[in-house]
Amino acid sequence: MRSVTLRVNGGQHALTLAEDTPLLFILRNDLGLNGPKYGCGLGECGACTVLVDDVAARACCLPVGLVEGREITTLEGLGTPEKPHPVQAAFIAEEGAQCGYCLNGMIMTVAALLARETQPSDATITEALRYNLCRCGAHVEILRAAKRAMQ
Ligand code: FES
Repeated sequence: MRSVTLRVNGGQHALTLAEDTPLLFILRNDLGLNGPKYGCGLGECGACTVLVDDVAARACCLPVGLVEGREITTLEGLGTPEKPHPVQAAFIAEEGAQCGYCLNGMIMTVAALLARETQPSDATITEALRYNLCRCGAHVEILRAAKRAMQ
């Protein structure tokens, strides 16, 4: 156990923890941020995606000791209900969800893409979301929302 200060959604959090604890557990259990979801716990589904310095990362298999001093953004830090991030607004407009469990990962992955490319091609968007899984099969609506976010 050791003291770690995490920068999350613009705030600082001093915590005492084992530095190999997955970031997802700290976000959900200690900080009460339930945007990132626990899906597979193996880095394969994308439900737990957060941004680390604007790069999409899978929080379920990211030891918290590796992100100390980095800027972590969760779905809660992206926008607000009153002022959603453009990607969140696009997913709302396109109703790009069925059960919604995968949406955190979809939105955070598209937000990371938008942060590094302003006009990605359809192929680039599809490739960016290739490893985010939706068990409902709502990928068509999700891709439509992602493309709308780029407009
Ligand atoms: Fe992290 Fe599936 S829960 S990738």
